[in-house]
Amino acid sequence: MTEIEHPRFARLWSWAMRHEPRDIVRARAELLEGLGGRVLEVGAGTGSNFAHYPSTVTEVVAVEPEAILRREAAALADEIGRGANASDGPRITVHDGTFEDLPDAATGPFDAVVCSLVLCTVPDPARAVATAFDVLRPGGELRYYEHVATDGALGGLQRAVDATFWPRAFGGCHTHRDTVSTIRAAGFETSRHRDLRSAPRWTPVPIAPMALGVARRPA
Ligand SMILES: C[S@@+](CC[C@H](N)C(=O)[O-])C[C@H]1O[C@@H](n2cnc3c(N)ncnc32)[C@H](O)[C@@H]1O
Repeated sequence: MTEIEHPRFARLWSWAMRHEPRDIVRARAELLEGLGGRVLEVGAGTGSNFAHYPSTVTEVVAVEPEAILRREAAALADEIGRGANASDGPRITVHDGTFEDLPDAATGPFDAVVCSLVLCTVPDPARAVATAFDVLRPGGELRYYEHVATDGALGGLQRAVDATFWPRAFGGCHTHRDTVSTIRAAGFETSRHRDLRSAPRWTPVPIAPMALGVARRPA
């Protein structure tokens, strides 16, 4: 497996996840609403989505390449598995791997693939989305919650930070990716889509423009 080591980013992300703003927590719940069956979550981080999976999901195969984040996600999956409501929720397992090098546990078909804040980070988003397409059953869903590119002055700022310090400072994150077009170009049909912002419109925050939605692999 391609071990990804970003210890500084991992510690920062772990801290951020313990102080996540309420609107992002709500977006995670919306991301996973209505899911069922067998789900693959790639780049699961510390497992911030785990608590939001509905009880109609039977299994979550979570893949995380960064060792520190993976340990936290595995500990959380364990805790949820031992909790009082464990029998109502999905079985969650956490594995080493990347979109480019998925573990055997991530063999499809899956009913859904979940990508949250990860297509901004993978080295080749088109390849990652094509992989998601391949492991989904026909009619299966790609659920996405991602930073996306915008235009105007903020778009210019996104391009500037991507070309300089941002990816190095934030574990490979790129702010100016047209992720929804990449998803459609892979053959997905977007059946639900919402543009949202993680910061007020007037603030020059490169990660403010976000997209949340459902894209379906045609049946
Ligand atoms: C910004 S974090 C988001 C974590 C989590 N999805 C969330 O919503 O909190 C980006 C994650 O993508 C992971 N990642 C980086 N490169 C990856 C790759 N090539 N394939 C899959 N995941 C990757 C990182 O280790 C990190 O956990």
